[in-house]
Amino acid sequence: MIKEPQIQLFDLVVSLSNAMDLVSPTVVGHHKRVAYIALSIGSALGLPMKQQNELVLAGALHDSGALSLTERLDTMRFELENPHKHAEIGYLLFQRFEPLSNIALLVRYHHVPWNEGGGHEFKGKQVPMGSHILHLADRIDVLISKQQEVLGQVKGICERIKESSGKMFMPGLVEAFMSLATKEYFWLDVVSSSIDSILSNRVRLATIELGIESLLSLANLFSHIIDFRSRFTATHSSGVVASAEVLARFAGFSERECQMMRIAGYLHDLGKLAVPTEILEKPAKLTEEEFNVIRSHTFHTYRTLEPIGALDVINAWASFHHERIDGSGYPFHHKGQDLSLGSRIMAVADVFTAITEDRPYRKGMTSDRALQVLLQMAENSALDSYVVSLLRLHFGEINSLRVVAQESSVEEYQKFLQPLS
Ligand SMILES: [Fe+2]
Ligand SMILES: [Fe+2]
Ligand SMILES: [Fe+2]
Repeated sequence: MIKEPQIQLFDLVVSLSNAMDLVSPTVVGHHKRVAYIALSIGSALGLPMKQQNELVLAGALHDSGALSLTERLDTMRFELENPHKHAEIGYLLFQRFEPLSNIALLVRYHHVPWNEGGGHEFKGKQVPMGSHILHLADRIDVLISKQQEVLGQVKGICERIKESSGKMFMPGLVEAFMSLATKEYFWLDVVSSSIDSILSNRVRLATIELGIESLLSLANLFSHIIDFRSRFTATHSSGVVASAEVLARFAGFSERECQMMRIAGYLHDLGKLAVPTEILEKPAKLTEEEFNVIRSHTFHTYRTLEPIGALDVINAWASFHHERIDGSGYPFHHKGQDLSLGSRIMAVADVFTAITEDRPYRKGMTSDRALQVLLQMAENSALDSYVVSLLRLHFGEINSLRVVAQESSVEEYQKFLQPLS
């Protein structure tokens, strides 16, 4: 019997934010630096611990709604043209997950300027103070050049922020920042390569533990961030989840293990966050370099989840879906003996979903053709023959569960896009 994972929300969120920041060297580490700066301002103001923790989580997730690389890069310019779209998408995503519903509001308004007090409200809604802190923290990080030594930049950054006090930023927050800015450790922490552990030491006091149910909904939420980035893949994970879960059940997995399989399914393409949407959506043939970037996604899924020890089983199930029994897969070239039954199930579920689902540029394969392909892959020792035999035996049932899951995911995708059009 596999032990149920106990996960700290903070650890998982930091890992996920790291994955999002892999998409370009320009944004690497941006989320957690903003988390650190926001936390420092919040603690200088003496905010209650609960609010300080919310600032860390909101900082680590605030640009999740910037789905394409272009949008992510735009958010790194000091003056933005259309800053609220990604903030609104972030809000729509996080408001669905109870432990992050407060964070959703902070994210929604993280680009609202103070505007001499007018920023108390935005479109008739009250803007929380945390959003103003996030806004300031975000703009501070944008002003730091990562190519130069940081302490030499402090004077210039402080002048720029001071100029915008009352206009872009709430004056009380600017004051709190100015006193922090005199301390070298603050800046050295911000650009430190150990910022993960610096952050985790500071939030250790107030931990929020995720049980399996909340882990499942957070994984589901993240599958939307992964899938909704491209209309080619908008419903892929839901198909993988449905087929992997039912295969696990036929293979005799317990109820708990089936839930873990669902979590692994939602997270299996997590590393695609590191792939620019411009590559995922490219209509023409990919260059070798672009293809390499796509192929690296399972490596990133693995390394993103690895620091969270309690997720090791789920990680192996999720991350080895492009490994093959004969060692010809990637990126680890694991062979049969290194691949657990759970990992083999995920590999079959992924291929099965990929070849049967419709994509905007092609129809999915017929059942007969798909089965032929899978049987051939089992015969070539690429996929596990026992798992493929289960799929063959229950093909109709598994396929209709996949179709239903993907259809309801299309609806969710369209509903999600509605307020944005
Ligand atoms: Fe932003
Ligand atoms: Fe940002
Ligand atoms: Fe994949």
